[in-house]
Amino acid sequence: MATILSIETSCDETATAIVNNRKVLSSIVSSQIDLHQLYGGVVPELASRKHLETINSCLDRALDESGLDWGDIDAIAATSAPGLVGALLVGVTAAKTLSLLYHKPFLGIHHLEGHIYAAYLDQPELQPPFLCLLVSGGHTSMIYVKNCGKYEVLGTTRDDAAGEAFDKVARLLELGYPGGPIIDKLAKKGNPRAFKLPEGKISLPEGGYHPYDSSFSGLKTAVLRLVQKLQTQGEIPVTDIAASFQATVAKALTKRTIKCALDYGLKTITVGGGVAANSGLRQHLLTAAKEYNLQVYFPPLNLCTDNAAMIGCAAAEHFDRGHRSDLDLEVRSRMNIADVMQLYL
Ligand code: KG4
Ligand code: ZN
Repeated sequence: MATILSIETSCDETATAIVNNRKVLSSIVSSQIDLHQLYGGVVPELASRKHLETINSCLDRALDESGLDWGDIDAIAATSAPGLVGALLVGVTAAKTLSLLYHKPFLGIHHLEGHIYAAYLDQPELQPPFLCLLVSGGHTSMIYVKNCGKYEVLGTTRDDAAGEAFDKVARLLELGYPGGPIIDKLAKKGNPRAFKLPEGKISLPEGGYHPYDSSFSGLKTAVLRLVQKLQTQGEIPVTDIAASFQATVAKALTKRTIKCALDYGLKTITVGGGVAANSGLRQHLLTAAKEYNLQVYFPPLNLCTDNAAMIGCAAAEHFDRGHRSDLDLEVRSRMNIADVMQLYL
């Protein structure tokens, strides 16, 4: 049962945490949303500079809130891939420095493995194998979780990620950034059946559709055309559009996830990434899973979007298995989750 101090700085959240195995002892998330909102998306150079300004106070707060001191920490972990290189460098350099200073092992963690581990937090009974639907701002993947460090990607998106689709639709509705939480809130007041929107399917050359891959760019374009048409007719029914869009995404993801779990004989499904917080997806997936006698685990709401507790949870398991990273480990902007074991000696 390892105690890990963990750092996450892959995008626009400076996050630190202290985790004991699957238990969160402290979790600090300093969001940069206000900074990037002005530009409608994350500006990498601004993100790195802000991480640098914030990281030390986030580390102090994580230790303070946990009530622990350095002597209680077994290892130090940081997200090392994938993500914005300058942003990742801040967290990884802080982790390596602390590791040298306090003579603690250092572990680099794959950001998506962190999102997978978010579902483990406070769920002592959850064990692999299971299917993880990973839906974030940058990824939409169906991952077969065989064990710690052993992953197979069974499905992906051919264009926009699920979270990206929420962000783009929110932008075209002029609702602000990030779009997911705003659309989720508005969707609760709208009619999900008001507009019929295309779910997005990937055709196969031999006929039929790819069962686990998704595509959201057609859906986004359909919303754009709908908005342009409605604009000529008067006021835009934003809540109905939000509800119809959200229900379409939720249905598309649910259908593929259930089929994939059944095809692979997996009885358990977990969800990870920012879109795992979406109320429409939660509702659709839980209802469908019940019908097929499948178990679904969602992370706690505050641990769906980027945080360091999920990174610490993944690190605790790697640490227990004896995995350690070299202090020369480099950050990487891209890295397939199937290659995570490359992070360890
Ligand atoms: O996992 P995350 O924090 O960052 C990445 O690793 O990408 O995910 C951020 C994404 C954003 O696109 C945001 O709009 C979306 O997750 N998101 C949501 C909700 N909360 C965050 N999407 C739908 N419904 C939500 N409640
Ligand atoms: Zn993320």
